[in-house]
Amino acid sequence: MLIKSDSQGFIHAASSEITSLSAYQSRRDLIRLMASGVAGVAMAGWASREALAQGWVSPGQNAPLKPSKTSVPGAVSMEKVTTYKDATTYNNFYEFGTDKSDPAQHAQSMPISPWSVEIEGLVKKPGRYALEDLLKLSAQEERIYRLRCVEGWSMVIPWVGYSLSELIRKVEPLGSAKYVEFVTMADPKTMPGVRSNVLDWPYVEGLRMDEALHPLTLLAFGMYGEALPKQNGAPLRLVVPWKYGFKSGKSLVKIRFTESQPKTAWGRAAPSEYGFYSNVNPLVDHPRWSQATERRIGEDGLFARKRKTLLFNGYEAQVGQMYAGMDLKKFF
Ligand code: MTE
Repeated sequence: MLIKSDSQGFIHAASSEITSLSAYQSRRDLIRLMASGVAGVAMAGWASREALAQGWVSPGQNAPLKPSKTSVPGAVSMEKVTTYKDATTYNNFYEFGTDKSDPAQHAQSMPISPWSVEIEGLVKKPGRYALEDLLKLSAQEERIYRLRCVEGWSMVIPWVGYSLSELIRKVEPLGSAKYVEFVTMADPKTMPGVRSNVLDWPYVEGLRMDEALHPLTLLAFGMYGEALPKQNGAPLRLVVPWKYGFKSGKSLVKIRFTESQPKTAWGRAAPSEYGFYSNVNPLVDHPRWSQATERRIGEDGLFARKRKTLLFNGYEAQVGQMYAGMDLKKFF
């Protein structure tokens, strides 16, 4: 690790050389695994311990969260984690513009306090839930998920949150509720993209009830051990790791329980390109490009190989059963 001292003799480490608390925890866990003799499988997945260490940079900007380790099977990817810098400067958040660098630049003026989420529709306990109460509703866990964007790139991010199912159970949907609709913030005053007609605002996403209740579906409040940066969907967002990234709505303001399938923002904009399910699937091409491979952000060198995209983004063992018997080409 390169350490520099300034003219007053203070020692500084470049932020890219500092390993975050969660990285230490991950490595500590790995060491524990090795000690217990079951590390063989885990080790095969890590590029190397050194590469893991180099994959982290210290966030250090937002309020720290204290997640426990995840209890959900399949929720920890063994791949090298994307750097904090890449994960927070290469974003899709069209409310702030369509360039990857727009959200980091323009999202900082979005007010996020106070914040609340309206729960409505076919549910026994509708109402406005304050962020503080949502944060306390269940134990926060760290989960290292792959996220694969429909555009053909992917990242590996340590999210912090809890299964959305915790909230759903608390508000008690009615038996007639078959889907969950997620509505995200749309404020033309603070979000320049909302003043354009690039999408029909607000950004809306939807899941089938079993998908929303699946333990991997995460209500995320943080990443890299800290509160979410605004460009990544502060103060709370969805992360659905087996679906293309756009299903993971950012800066949620409403969760609505419905009987009919929600009309999502991308579905309305281009129904032939973005189906309701949008499960990551290398065998079902986007009408304008293949979905068979992906580029991992951070592996951009001249000789970087593309990775093969995995069915359900590699989460088939956990989620495949929900789609048994469905024609995934038809229900794309
Ligand atoms: N949520 C809102 N409100 N607006 C958006 O434009 N973009 C989606 C999704 N959630 C988007 C959104 C897309 S296309 C992707 S790939 C992911 O956010 C990107 O999340 P990230 O920037 O944290 O990687």
